[in-house]
Amino acid sequence: MIIENHNKIKFSNNFKNKHKGFFNFIDKNNYDIVISDDLVDLENVIKSLSKEEYPFDFDGFFSLEKVKKSVNLYFVLKLLYKNEIIATYAARNIDVYKFIYAVKKHFNVKNFKEDVDSYLPKNKNFLIKNTYYSSCQWVKTTHRNKNLGVILDHLKKNIIFDLLDGEVNYCIHKEPLTNYHKNKLLYEQSEWLMNVPSGNVGGAGDINDKIYHFAWVFKDNWTDKYKQTQLIYEK
Ligand SMILES: CC(C)(COP(=O)(O)OP(=O)(O)OC[C@H]1O[C@@H](n2cnc3c(N)ncnc32)[C@H](O)[C@@H]1OP(=O)(O)O)[C@@H](O)C(=O)NCCC(=O)NCCS
Repeated sequence: MIIENHNKIKFSNNFKNKHKGFFNFIDKNNYDIVISDDLVDLENVIKSLSKEEYPFDFDGFFSLEKVKKSVNLYFVLKLLYKNEIIATYAARNIDVYKFIYAVKKHFNVKNFKEDVDSYLPKNKNFLIKNTYYSSCQWVKTTHRNKNLGVILDHLKKNIIFDLLDGEVNYCIHKEPLTNYHKNKLLYEQSEWLMNVPSGNVGGAGDINDKIYHFAWVFKDNWTDKYKQTQLIYEK
């Protein structure tokens, strides 16, 4: 079942039709997918998890006080199974450089990649509008390794690119998750962003890992990969 609780974002018929692989999978397996703008609920859910379930602090970029309701567009995804929340995800628009400087300042990072544009080919840059940061990815331990993390991530990208006119989706993660981000979540690229000597940025990986990557995918690259994302539902 689809539960739509977002003030601005609606799954159009076109969207449901284009992504019917995902929606059929949800129905067939008795999951419910919820889309909302309820950041307070997201924060409560994440903060209620044990460190075994979610070994990070809540990502402050998704605190209600941090997102300007009037300027920012954001959404929360939840997956339910028999009314229990078994997975979360969230995304919001924020300029790439604004985001990375905020991270640098917050964690007082010295060893930092200032110019992420230098990772891009000459004809691309991050100084564009409608760039979406995503985070708060969690799948309940008892439901892991069933591709739920992957398919929710793909849904998030489809919402960003198909419904919100997003131009790029980006995130940060700890180094050991580089292959997961590139080969499973199908980010276009993942490159070194910073070394965080202490603290625990809401990325992924082992708590002791200090090396963070910046991963991104542009809309054109996602469009090229779309067919590949459908293979999961054909299994
Ligand atoms: C990361 C997380 C969301 C993955 O959820 P999941 O539903 O188990 O992942 P999926 O089933 O979609 O993943 C499928 C594939 O990714 C791989 N993968 C999953 N988590 C991985 C990890 N932490 N490191 C390396 N590979 C991983 C799996 O081995 C699997 O590969 P396979 O198909 O070749 O066997 C989940 O482990 C989690 O909630 N972790 C704690 C919170 C966290 O780290 N969140 C931030 C992630 S950036």
